[in-house]
Amino acid sequence: MDLGADRKRDSLRDGFGREIGDLRISVTDRCNLRCVYCIPEETPTFQPRDELLTFEELERVTRIFVDAGVSKIRLTGGEPLLRKSLPELVASLSSIPGVADLAMTTNGIFLRDALGALQDAGLNRLNISLDTLRPERFRLLTRRGGLRIVLDAIRASRDEGFQPLKVNVVPLRGFNDDEIVAFARFAREEKVVVRFIEFMPLEAGDVWSRDMLVPGAEIREAIHDYCAIEPVDASHAAETAERFRFVDGSGEIGIIAPVTRAFCGACNRARITADGKLRTCLFSLAEIDLKGPMRAGASDADLMGLIGGAWAAKEAGHLINSDDFVRPDRTMSSIGG
Ligand code: GTP
Ligand code: 5AD
Ligand code: SF4
Repeated sequence: MDLGADRKRDSLRDGFGREIGDLRISVTDRCNLRCVYCIPEETPTFQPRDELLTFEELERVTRIFVDAGVSKIRLTGGEPLLRKSLPELVASLSSIPGVADLAMTTNGIFLRDALGALQDAGLNRLNISLDTLRPERFRLLTRRGGLRIVLDAIRASRDEGFQPLKVNVVPLRGFNDDEIVAFARFAREEKVVVRFIEFMPLEAGDVWSRDMLVPGAEIREAIHDYCAIEPVDASHAAETAERFRFVDGSGEIGIIAPVTRAFCGACNRARITADGKLRTCLFSLAEIDLKGPMRAGASDADLMGLIGGAWAAKEAGHLINSDDFVRPDRTMSSIGG
């Protein structure tokens, strides 16, 4: 296949008619925090460095995904800022014609010093993970610490012009579900979009239970009781979050409810793990190796063939609510969310 002549191809479509649009790239499986619901306490087995896709390989594979129809790229981890010289990767990806949105999801600890370089390199959006506003609880939850650093990074990112700045919170029953209103207040006072995410069974160990997740409807009610909210028209069908604005005009929150209100029917996301495996669903049980073929001399057309084949077979959706659910071997920390 001559990709040069074929650049204006239609986007890849899967067996359910869903077009590929969004690529989430995990640049490292390492993390500097050890959030209890995400990563094991004992040092997890991380990928050796030579197993990680190089920046050149990531740029190549991203170009092919863009040819396949992707226009939205998100860098994830582990913690993406642990990857050395990350702004260089951002610069090379942001200069690929066809990349319309280049974003990153981070825990914020190393963000502040990197903000200028990331922005200069062409990063246009940031989502920051933060599950509690209480220092002691932050220490317990992350098994490390650094709440003040993350709060500073949130404010600095917002002031630097990363807008909308999104803060991701995973409420866990009996642990931080008493902070939902505090986070809603935080959204209004700090002018950031706080998004509440239902806990999914992708954690380290086997701690997930339906009782632990706080359903989106409950979060919505708790916030509405505190300060009235109304739906915002979703900007695009494939969005993960249902968006709500405060009726008094003081800001916006989002609810991501993959368990009680699955959004798989409009899913346009593909994922690449740090070691170069393509996953067509967060909950995929099979992965398609791109690194091996790339290092064995595969052409762009060969890689496009692999990606096209994988996308054609994309799963209908997750099976969390079914008896057939099988948890993938990888945890969230090595898929990147
Ligand atoms: P925006 O483009 O800013 O809307 O980002 P996003 O919501 O796609 O990205 P982010 O990394 O902030 O995702 C927030 C959380 O939503 C993730 O950590 C996951 O918990 C969840 N999430 C994101 N994408 C998917 C998905 O495809 N399926 C499911 N089940 N959950 C997802
Ligand atoms: N369910 C939902 N969200 C999760 N995250 C990590 N593990 C889970 C899970 N099991 C979120 C983090 C962060 C993003 C990278 O993924 O809170 O916002
Ligand atoms: Fe897409 Fe899978 Fe997430 Fe459903 S669970 S939205 S199919 S990635």
